[in-house]
Amino acid sequence: MMKFAFVLATLSVLEAATTEPPKITSGELLYKDWKPYSTPLVIPDVIDMRQGGSLEMNIGETTHTWQNGVPASRVYGYGKVGGNLTTPGPTILVNKSVPIQVTWNNVLGMSTHLLSNYIDSSLLHSESACFPNCGIPVSTHIHGLETPPKYDGLPHYSIYKNQSYTAIYNNSQSSSTKLYHDHAIGLSRLNMWAGLTGMYIIQDPELEKKFNFDKITVDVPLMISDKLFDPSGKLMYTSVVTCPVPGSVWMPESFGSVNTVNGVVQPYLEVPPQQVRFRLVNLANARNYNFTLPFADKCTLIATDAGFVQEPKPLNSTGFKLYSLERVELICDFSSFTNGTKFDIEDISSDADSSYDYDNKIMQIHVVAAKNPSSSITIPTSLNKLKDLQELYKSTNGKLRTITLGEMESMDQCPTTLMITQYQQVSNVSMVHNKLFCTRGKVEKWQFKNPTDDVHPFHWHLVKAQCGPDDKSINKNELKDVVVIPNADLSDQLAITQVCYVACTPDEFLLEGSSRAATDFGFSTDEPYLAHCHIMEHEDNSMMAWFQLTDVDDSHAIDDGTVANPNEITGMVIGTAIGMSILGGFATTLSVLVLSIPRLNFLAGDKALAMTFALSAGVMLFIALVDLFLESIEKFKGAYAVGGNVDLEAIEHGLAPAGSVAPTCDKTCAGLAWLSTVGCFYGGVLIVIFIEFVVHRVFDYHAKDLANIGHTHEAQAVLEDAQSPVDATFQKHNHEIHNNAEVEQDEKRNDYRRAGALTGIAIAIHNFPEGLALFVASLQGLKTGIVLAIGIILHNFPEGIAIAAPVYYATNSKKQAFLWTGLSGIAQPCGAFIGWATISGGVTPLLSGILYSMVSGMLVCIAVKELLPGAFKFGGANFTFSFLGGFFIMAVSLICLQFVGTS
Ligand SMILES: *[C@@H]1O[C@H](CO)[C@@H](O)[C@H](O)[C@H]1NC(C)=O
Ligand SMILES: *[C@@H]1O[C@H](CO)[C@@H](O)[C@H](O)[C@H]1NC(C)=O
Ligand SMILES: *[C@@H]1O[C@H](CO)[C@@H](O)[C@H](O)[C@H]1NC(C)=O
Ligand SMILES: *[C@@H]1O[C@H](CO)[C@@H](O)[C@H](O)[C@H]1NC(C)=O
Ligand SMILES: *[C@@H]1O[C@H](CO)[C@@H](O)[C@H](O)[C@H]1NC(C)=O
Ligand SMILES: *[C@@H]1O[C@H](CO)[C@@H](O)[C@H](O)[C@H]1NC(C)=O
Ligand SMILES: *[C@@H]1O[C@H](CO)[C@@H](O)[C@H](O)[C@H]1NC(C)=O
Ligand SMILES: *[C@@H]1O[C@H](CO)[C@@H](O)[C@H](O)[C@H]1NC(C)=O
Repeated sequence: MMKFAFVLATLSVLEAATTEPPKITSGELLYKDWKPYSTPLVIPDVIDMRQGGSLEMNIGETTHTWQNGVPASRVYGYGKVGGNLTTPGPTILVNKSVPIQVTWNNVLGMSTHLLSNYIDSSLLHSESACFPNCGIPVSTHIHGLETPPKYDGLPHYSIYKNQSYTAIYNNSQSSSTKLYHDHAIGLSRLNMWAGLTGMYIIQDPELEKKFNFDKITVDVPLMISDKLFDPSGKLMYTSVVTCPVPGSVWMPESFGSVNTVNGVVQPYLEVPPQQVRFRLVNLANARNYNFTLPFADKCTLIATDAGFVQEPKPLNSTGFKLYSLERVELICDFSSFTNGTKFDIEDISSDADSSYDYDNKIMQIHVVAAKNPSSSITIPTSLNKLKDLQELYKSTNGKLRTITLGEMESMDQCPTTLMITQYQQVSNVSMVHNKLFCTRGKVEKWQFKNPTDDVHPFHWHLVKAQCGPDDKSINKNELKDVVVIPNADLSDQLAITQVCYVACTPDEFLLEGSSRAATDFGFSTDEPYLAHCHIMEHEDNSMMAWFQLTDVDDSHAIDDGTVANPNEITGMVIGTAIGMSILGGFATTLSVLVLSIPRLNFLAGDKALAMTFALSAGVMLFIALVDLFLESIEKFKGAYAVGGNVDLEAIEHGLAPAGSVAPTCDKTCAGLAWLSTVGCFYGGVLIVIFIEFVVHRVFDYHAKDLANIGHTHEAQAVLEDAQSPVDATFQKHNHEIHNNAEVEQDEKRNDYRRAGALTGIAIAIHNFPEGLALFVASLQGLKTGIVLAIGIILHNFPEGIAIAAPVYYATNSKKQAFLWTGLSGIAQPCGAFIGWATISGGVTPLLSGILYSMVSGMLVCIAVKELLPGAFKFGGANFTFSFLGGFFIMAVSLICLQFVGTS
């Protein structure tokens, strides 16, 4: 108890600390001397792999000049073995359906991480937990590529210092612009910011020819991202923390102060007066761009994430949005512009907030006279004919799912942990394996809710989707692998903000007239992939889940997203709670079995009894002190907290509206919460003591310890006593017994009958609070209910023996024994029903607090007064071992249930 009190006190100190977070302010200066549009755009080298074959790539550190005249700074980059490392890495150009093999080498060595000041060790779990001893974990994911999981760059295929990983990329999918980038767990935001990105282009020579795109000689990649530099020109990461979480250097987003294109700050690009193809990519960690393209009316959008669109679309002159890792391909015609015409491309997005002054310039385009500008092509009116995913959803009978993108906030409303939830459960990639599923070969409907402040660009590995704000406005012109999930209005936080038809098929199957089968990826998808928010900081801080394609339907129910109030006690919870207490009651009657089957008689032996009592005591103490007591304090705190406009539970469940303020619990409130918990705890103790006192008085029961295992001990004696006589003496109509003996036996029989009946009543009365406890504990969560039920069943069993043995001995009737045990067993569900009646008016935090702490007291009292002495009596020397064993088994089972994620 002392130990628990100590732990609890420590916890509350920590909590108090969180209310006054230390503000980290750096007052850092930034590099100021940028000369916009002074440096030509750099086009990364192209590694032409169109013939197939193998390639060896290094991942390492190098120096990089961000703008002419600015001192070179350290960065991370990719490069062909034997060549230089660059950021972005060289563009890997492949031929559709021609496989290549790439070996990725980690040559970062043991150097400290370039952005080591910004590493948040709490995010370095799983495959990154070995950092820095294993060097810098990296894993190269080719965004949008259809590969088996082992070649998908998933975090568990991370490579460490001086390690290599060879992957095969079949490229059997629609031609399109992809990107390769780092995907190490808890580090990818920093590795990417430091430079680990590059372009990967799948080309389809036939289509290029068919659409005449091969006649457009200028094809320019534009990988845009924002960055921060210190006054010496050194790359840095966001460190002005506006919303700090104590002990964490995790930033909800990192925004830069200047924009770079292909690794150059504010470059210019000379284009000939002809059609130019741009492959425009948002490679920023978090920034959403809204580009101004002054020449937009000369541009046509021909492709997005998964390849050519169905119908090319003229670009809106007002600019357009691009979120992290979204891609578009444009054909812009500069032929009508004269030599020397200049266009500024800027970002007019308004929804990013940065702690630093932001220069929204991106790049400048200079139209320059060319000797032989290529002649114009006519862009076809139709490119890739796509199937209608909404129709496929119906025809493949796909599943409907609802996914919520939520966040937990600290008291001062900083998001601390982000999360993806489905079926009211958090799915993330730490130990909690609540995976997202999709049935292979089907098109599913995924509805998204986003009650947070931010839009979240959501990315599925492997598969593509067609989305829209509602069913009537699905964009069927394209296939996407990153989709923006807008945040909901304050008026309706749990509105569905994006509807996606997710095709768990190869993308080629989605082309009209395709001969590719819906399930034919060409490889096994037995292992899970990932799905996550592509804001790199969100991805690193748990807005990422395992995403598994299954061959047959996963067993999850269709989820139309009808919100269940997390505080609502559902019929299922009540059903389970009542069911558990009926089971507990039933265990009492099982004791009759032990009596009637000689083989089971050993279960009534000392050792077995000691074990079950000790085990049971372990369970009860564990649940009472670890689970219920702590929960009670939280509930009381919730009840006494003041201010705020939202329920704490809503915040925990990620359902809190963006502008909501959590109520605060000050010193007085915390003190009252403790006082109430302790008070009710002793209330529970008193109730149990009182019940026993009443039983003692009213029934004049001669046993010393009423309703305790003393009577079981006695019953045990009775049982042993009775065992031989049962056969010999109580044979039916056996009247050949010695007269004296008969009288003696009759007296004894009466005694036993009385003992049995009284024990039955006594046990019934104490089963009553147990039933209540079981019910209340089940409300706390299914796992607590189940574990407690096991504990109760374990000791109800020997208690049943205490009733059944004397009754059976007295009456020689199993029916009678069963009846009496049944009677006391029924008390348990009765207790549960009382619990149910108590909460029927709804559960307020105050009522939960009272119930949890009272029941905690009851359980502790029952364990200490009855179970422990019993276990001690029977177990003798083995007592300590048995008790600690019981405690341990229950702790372990709770740990396992946590991992399974049952609530
Ligand atoms: C691309 O692949 C096709 C057929 O697979 C082949 O005919 C063509 O030569 C390849 N292109 C290049 C540039 O290697
Ligand atoms: C690597 O960079 C150096 C210095 O910029 C340059 O001289 C050299 O040619 C480059 N090597 C390759 C293979 O590009
Ligand atoms: C890296 O690996 C190579 C080949 O396995 C080995 O020769 C070399 O010594 C290693 N270097 C380091 C720094 O461990
Ligand atoms: C331009 O705006 C119109 C109207 O909002 C929209 O329907 C169209 O899809 C937009 N075009 C592109 C290329 O986004
Ligand atoms: C992009 O900026 C334009 C011009 O301010 C604005 O009309 C448009 O709504 C913006 N687009 C988005 C998606 O915010
Ligand atoms: C294009 O303009 C530049 C100056 O902006 C000039 O130097 C160049 O001679 C011009 N070229 C032609 C072909 O007119
Ligand atoms: C490549 O395609 C072949 C033929 O379909 C298939 O057997 C193989 O598993 C694929 N491998 C990868 C890595 O995709
Ligand atoms: C995953 O979710 C669990 C349950 O909400 C949470 O406790 C844990 O911190 C999350 N993992 C990570 C890496 O954030």
